[in-house]
Amino acid sequence: MDLLKERIMQEGRCFPGGILKVDSFVNHQMDPILMMDLAKEFVRLFKDIKYNKIVTIEASGIAPAIMVGYLTNLPVVFVKKKQPKTMEGMITSVVHSFTKDRDYTVCVSNSYLTPEDHVIFIDDFLANGNASKGVMDLCEKAGAKIEAMGFIIEKAFQHGGDFLRKEGIRYEALATVESLDDCKIVLK
Ligand code: G4P
Ligand code: NA
Ligand code: NA
Repeated sequence: MDLLKERIMQEGRCFPGGILKVDSFVNHQMDPILMMDLAKEFVRLFKDIKYNKIVTIEASGIAPAIMVGYLTNLPVVFVKKKQPKTMEGMITSVVHSFTKDRDYTVCVSNSYLTPEDHVIFIDDFLANGNASKGVMDLCEKAGAKIEAMGFIIEKAFQHGGDFLRKEGIRYEALATVESLDDCKIVLK
């Protein structure tokens, strides 16, 4: 995805602790035209896979996920980070956030994640893979099968990719950051 790589190089900024800030087109202000292009790329990469549902985690995964759902005419379920009192059939999992250094509980209703589901999980970043781990746990508890995962940006210097390969989960990243050392963005 040359378009995405250009945007990262032009607008991305490094923050201490290996954080890439892309607030001008992914995490705060969003570029829907770019999001749609990214979604088209996900759909192309996953064309040999049979799936019936897109799953993401709030908040930043929702924009790319809904574009994929639009293109494929499939429902999009977002895993929630707050447990609503009214949720029926709640399934939960605890996720550790490295960037925030705290645990939080994520949840989804078993009405929307079921043993019939073959899932593509979409998210903005693959860092340590903790969000992915949480969604894998939710899918296992729901009896749903994860067919593949798609990330806008992978940070290869963290361990999410290693974890997913070890688990035998197919994933695609549309841009890979090799390093942010000395506040310099190095893309693969
Ligand atoms: P992990 O899921 O890969 O383990 O990520 P980690 O716990 O390290 O990060 C938690 C949050 O930080 C996630 O978003 C993740 O997408 C985001 N994140 C990780 N690395 C970066 C980065 O380099 N840049 C940016 N902009 N975000 C990063 P979240 O807290 O769940 O929030 P939301 O933005 O989806 O609402
Ligand atoms: Na995220
Ligand atoms: Na984020």
